[in-house]
Amino acid sequence: MDDILKVAMPKGRIYKQAAKLFTKAGLPIPEDLEEGRRLIIPVPGAKMEFILAKPVDVPTYVEYGVADIGVVGKDVLMEENRNVYELLDLGIARCRMSVIGLPDWKQVINPRVATKYPNVASQYFREQGQQVEVIKLNGSIELAPLIGLADRIVDMVETGQTLKENGLVEQEEIFQITSRLIANRVSYRMKNDSIQRLCDMLQAVLPTVKL
Ligand code: PRP
Repeated sequence: MDDILKVAMPKGRIYKQAAKLFTKAGLPIPEDLEEGRRLIIPVPGAKMEFILAKPVDVPTYVEYGVADIGVVGKDVLMEENRNVYELLDLGIARCRMSVIGLPDWKQVINPRVATKYPNVASQYFREQGQQVEVIKLNGSIELAPLIGLADRIVDMVETGQTLKENGLVEQEEIFQITSRLIANRVSYRMKNDSIQRLCDMLQAVLPTVKL
């Protein structure tokens, strides 16, 4: 195993905040990196290499060991349920997973629930003892109750703006979401010193939780 630490970074809403955090921790990575087309970015001074991945794929890269560690939202981690270590709550990209519907929603038998997170949704309603039909969508989930595809949706809420603009309401919060640092199980043993060093550097600059 080489001594370069391979880090999978999610493109999209988490990237900028993660780049800021790494930079603050003394590992400067450009915030505009994802605007280019390069997908593998070496940082030779730090003996690290960043891989820009689709967020949902980060746990897969880490489980298979092509990335030693990765940054990923708790939403993806819960949905993908991959065999990886969760090392650190980075406290960034804070939002929540919720059940959402129209304000005049009425309970029906076997309601349809649209979501990007079929495993999370199925588990939640199973635990609630409610039978539902889960419909997997890949985006613009808020459309589903508006056009009659589903009775409710399970989706992430950050500012609440999307719900507001579409006349939808949050009915139940399922769990809070922040980004996590995850590690491949073998890398965690073989590259423990460098992974531990990175954890310490990040931990020293983590945002403080407001209670
Ligand atoms: C996410 C999520 C909501 C929205 C919530 O969608 O699915 O639609 O953000 O954010 P808000 O509470 O700040 O409005 P995303 O932007 O990832 O796009 P998508 O529709 O492709 O899922």
